[in-house]
Amino acid sequence: MQEYIFINGQFVKSQEAKIHVTDLALLRGYGIFDFFRAINGKPIFMEDHLDRFENSARLMGLTIPANRVALRNIIQETIRLNPYPTLGIKMILTGGYSPDGYVPAEAPNLIVIGKPFTFKEPKQGLKLLSFAYQREIPAIKTLNYIVPIRLLPQLKAAQADDVLYYANNLISESSRSNIFIVKNQTIVTPQTGVLYGITRKHVLKVAAKHYAVEERDISLAEYWEADEVFTTGSTKRLLPIVQTDDVIFNKGKIGTITQHLQEAFLAYEKGVG
Ligand SMILES: Cc1ncc(COP(=O)(O)O)c(C=O)c1O
Repeated sequence: MQEYIFINGQFVKSQEAKIHVTDLALLRGYGIFDFFRAINGKPIFMEDHLDRFENSARLMGLTIPANRVALRNIIQETIRLNPYPTLGIKMILTGGYSPDGYVPAEAPNLIVIGKPFTFKEPKQGLKLLSFAYQREIPAIKTLNYIVPIRLLPQLKAAQADDVLYYANNLISESSRSNIFIVKNQTIVTPQTGVLYGITRKHVLKVAAKHYAVEERDISLAEYWEADEVFTTGSTKRLLPIVQTDDVIFNKGKIGTITQHLQEAFLAYEKGVG
């Protein structure tokens, strides 16, 4: 089945969803996006994702050519036209068709893609490679994933799943997910230099019902000493990290608290969505 995609005011079949070569996202990487899932037709944490999408647009200096009500309607129509059990919904906003290849167009391009989505569930937990990098303007969900994509061959060679970014001796996040450590039953996640993940926000809420939680800087030294490490994101929910570089956490197995939060978050997501 061919998906329907919303592009500049109308839904078209995916093969017909085309954008002109003068778009500023192509020429200069100037654009933002957001991503969430709809399960059995029900969007998960949609208002949070719309808040972040609008915030990214504002910080980027782009105007979304649709208000909140219109965006919700586009999303509902995307779900109706693409009736998959789990749908991944990606909203993209670009600088539009630039008159001179640099200055943003008056009209940005808004695209909403609905595609079937399946979770990858590695049983063993993830392995990360640490990498010195700080995302530019971390609070914006920009289209720029140059650094982690360039690292893919290196990750493959090391049989690692993803990266752990750090800068000035502080850890921040992974390429597409947030990082949490567990130490002496306390759950800690970095507060600065990160994208404020929607999963992160809800996991913090769930965790606070059972444990002490802290949002603050985490040094690399503290990271290496963690009892458990896990990562959160819309495409992963909550997954254990059992290794980073040569350091193995919790003897390479999912930790008790990570497992508890994984189950608690799944139940919460089903209830709240
Ligand atoms: C850089 C980065 N950090 C964190 C996240 C996790 O955010 P969320 O839980 O909203 O998917 C993502 C993915 O969206 C990301 O790209």
